[in-house]
Amino acid sequence: MSVVPEQFTRAMARVPGPVVVATTVDRAGRRWGFTASSFSSLSIAPPLVLVCLGKSASTHAAFAGADFFMINILAEEQADIARCFARSGVDRFAAGDTLPMELGLPGIPNAAARVACAMDRIVDGGDHSILIGRVEATFAGEDAPLVYCDRSFQRPVALDAARYV
Ligand SMILES: Cc1cc2nc3c(=O)[nH]c(=O)nc-3n(C[C@H](O)[C@H](O)[C@H](O)COP(=O)(O)O)c2cc1C
Repeated sequence: MSVVPEQFTRAMARVPGPVVVATTVDRAGRRWGFTASSFSSLSIAPPLVLVCLGKSASTHAAFAGADFFMINILAEEQADIARCFARSGVDRFAAGDTLPMELGLPGIPNAAARVACAMDRIVDGGDHSILIGRVEATFAGEDAPLVYCDRSFQRPVALDAARYV
């Protein structure tokens, strides 16, 4: 039985995910970045994370050839930055949302968190590549993280602890 793509994506849209901006710098010093919700931690020892990047994305060649990359986990007030780094055919860095941060990579100040990685390996994942990073530096901020669910940006809401513990 084959799954209809629209049914698959509608089901997956129900899965809440983080909103991150992955960045890297190529050998010519040019910056690259894209918005992603397919970010996850993978291993504690060694510390590994992953993010999936579409093979047809304009950023794919740069990330496939990168030795290092940064994952900026966006805070709830940073949905505009998420939209900017998902926009096609524009200079995503023109607004000046990033500064050189951990490992000298483009970082977003006041992000909910950042993880700077060395590229560990790239695994084939259908029409996406799975970029696996070995974490070399981290930053954990104070602001609540942005959430993507049902095709919209949302903020996490804490449940009444007394009712759910
Ligand atoms: C909330 C959100 C989550 C996204 N998640 C991913 C993702 O996990 N992987 C991915 O390859 N593209 C993802 N995208 C799309 C990319 O940000 C970008 O639009 C896409 O790579 C096409 O860009 P291009 O113009 O560089 O080809 C997401 C976009 C948004 C707005």
